[in-house]
Amino acid sequence: MAVVGVMYNLKGAPPEEGEPPDLGAELDSESTVAAVALALRAHGHEVLLIEGNDTAYLKLLSNRLDIVFNMCEGLRGESRESHIPSMLEMLGIPYTGSGVLTLALTLDKPLTKKVLAYHGIPTPGFRVFSSAEEIDVQGLEFPLFVKPAHEGSSMGITSSSVCKDMDRLVGEVRRLTALYRQPVLVEEFLPGREFTVGILGNKNPVIFPIMEINFDAIPEGCARVYSRQFKTDWSDDIYYKCPAPLEPELEALIKDTALKTYRALDCRDLARVDLRLDRRGVPNVMEVNPLPGLAPGYSDYPRLAEKGGWTYTDLINGILECALRRNNMEHLIGAPFVRQIA
Ligand SMILES: Nc1ncnc2c1ncn2[C@@H]1O[C@H](COP(=O)(O)OP(=O)(O)OP(=O)(O)O)[C@@H](O)[C@H]1O
Ligand SMILES: [Mg+2]
Repeated sequence: MAVVGVMYNLKGAPPEEGEPPDLGAELDSESTVAAVALALRAHGHEVLLIEGNDTAYLKLLSNRLDIVFNMCEGLRGESRESHIPSMLEMLGIPYTGSGVLTLALTLDKPLTKKVLAYHGIPTPGFRVFSSAEEIDVQGLEFPLFVKPAHEGSSMGITSSSVCKDMDRLVGEVRRLTALYRQPVLVEEFLPGREFTVGILGNKNPVIFPIMEINFDAIPEGCARVYSRQFKTDWSDDIYYKCPAPLEPELEALIKDTALKTYRALDCRDLARVDLRLDRRGVPNVMEVNPLPGLAPGYSDYPRLAEKGGWTYTDLINGILECALRRNNMEHLIGAPFVRQIA
């Protein structure tokens, strides 16, 4: 049994005027933190809840922890997901999930795409602009998709993200740079089916059943993108197909692409990879989430795990087990865990 510090960043006050309406969308609610703590305690671990805020370092110094269950999305800054892991690394405290470099890298979508391209993993062609005046799309084909370069949880993504011509592109780049005060990523639109793949483990990771986003179920006229509106308004099972109905070859190709991505980015313990088919039917990686949301019954990652036969308690303890094994701390694995993940 281990002394586990569960670290998180809670959703705060609603956004103020001038701030993006979806500010803080990736942060956790108290119920998710409580569910993670409950799952760990069910396996006999001692749990300390530590908010990953400005005083976190002092709390880490004054408590003896064996390991941290890291859910911190970070408070501010372009490398925010790596702040708490950096402190943990400095203090020599092991933690679940990916390391500092991977967390900082995947928050930068353009840089992530460069690493994927180096490994020959398909990802749409792209450019990055800090203002509408910089736009130059030579070599890219419309329609183009526009999103903030350093966000997650579909922040900034609406039906206007798909731009069919230059006028719309300029408007969308203006909107996003003003609202999110960061560069925007402009990439070729992937017109095909969309999937998300959940991975758990290190040497021989488990891949949960693949989930397809069911755009056929959304109201007519709504853009076929997995927008903020989709994630908040359409969370019922009919909007998702899991396991996705897939030909064996395509299923194998999606899994292989997701796993190659996981390895190329040095992901650890868990991650979710989002893919979409291009016009030739080839799975392309849109982005990687090394800190996938863990809201029980709501977030994609625990939903995928459940379809694979993992209860929420199994999943949370499975993540911890991966991190304990990776750090040669098997003796702290809780009871009565029966699954073994390499
Ligand atoms: N190049 C693209 N072509 C078509 N659709 C896209 C493209 N890029 C993103 N999308 C759509 O926008 C959605 C959100 O994009 P993406 O996954 O990059 O953002 P995110 O905010 O990081 O998501 P998450 O909530 O998974 O963190 C995708 O699920 C997809 O529906
Ligand atoms: Mg995504």
